[in-house]
Amino acid sequence: DDAGRHAAFEARVAADEFIEPKDWMPEAYRKTLIRQISQHAHSEIVGMLPEGNWLTRAPSLRRKAILLAKIQDECGHGLYLYAAAETLGVSRDEMTEALHAGRAKYSTIFNYPTLTWADIGAIGWLVDGAAILNQVPLQRTSYGPYARAMVRICKEESFHQRQGYESMMQLANGTPAQQRMAQDALDRWWWPSLMMFGPPDDNSPNSAQSMRWRIKRDTNDKLRQKFIDVTVPQAQALGLTIPDPDLKWNPARESYDYGAIDWAEFYAVVRGEGPVAKDRIKARIDAWESQSWVREAAMAHEAKRQNKAA
Ligand code: 3HC
Repeated sequence: DDAGRHAAFEARVAADEFIEPKDWMPEAYRKTLIRQISQHAHSEIVGMLPEGNWLTRAPSLRRKAILLAKIQDECGHGLYLYAAAETLGVSRDEMTEALHAGRAKYSTIFNYPTLTWADIGAIGWLVDGAAILNQVPLQRTSYGPYARAMVRICKEESFHQRQGYESMMQLANGTPAQQRMAQDALDRWWWPSLMMFGPPDDNSPNSAQSMRWRIKRDTNDKLRQKFIDVTVPQAQALGLTIPDPDLKWNPARESYDYGAIDWAEFYAVVRGEGPVAKDRIKARIDAWESQSWVREAAMAHEAKRQNKAA
């Protein structure tokens, strides 16, 4: 009976077992996973746009090759995650339609413009740095296909973060103009990177249930604090200043105290009012429509192959 199945499910999750696609699961578990995994996938795909903006203007062939590899990785992360979401019974087309119609979101961070080459280094260092802290615990998320996708993604994410930090090191140790570029990028990407972790725990509608069902393993504020504590020394090593006058080491907490986050900005960007939000969705819809011939050709080829095999 239903109560029995719920109890058995809760016991399995509490015992840290993976829930697999064919296992019984509460509809709300399926629904919140489709929500989170599809939005995670959308973030990877939309996240290719800010970096793509500098691909043809990379300052050297080495930087261009690294950026090309990273953008290609992000596309792959999107595909793993869409595939993980499909195991829950939602189709790729439904997820794409939800994104284009504004019913599904992607991470706020990708609604900010990449104004200089230094932004590419700051994105690798800060955005992928934040993503690693958020994604490493997700390797133990209770839904099997999501956890396994995370294992592969986390391996590639480390390269993304290292290449970004190395690029910032070059700028920070470069000419005064390059140092100013690096500081300007940190000034513009610091606060939006903190917002990637989501709203404060006391205003996070999904957290309680996601923690209980071990979808979420650490709270938004805990990961945000961890990100600040590991990133401040990295900024100091670059000789750059974190744009937060209230940032201060708190020996009692063995963590940094930090200034107030502008949650009005966060919710405005979540609502789709980010600086380049309209461009991002237009770019995705244009790509989807202009590349439809590729999908049709692939489907025709697949149908022919299957006919031959039958
Ligand atoms: N951007 C957009 N929406 C956000 C957000 C953000 N930074 N943070 C929170 N939200 C949304 C949530 O989706 C939720 O709305 P919804 O119910 O309509 O989906 C609402 O704000 C309330 O937030 P909650 O804390 O209650 O929501 P969650 O429990 O889902 O926590 C999360 C938010 C921490 C982002 C969680 O969904 C998560 O861990 N997702 C997986 C990781 C992910 O998506 N990361 C995004 C970046 S991916 C990336 O950076 C790739 C790298 O390669 C660059």
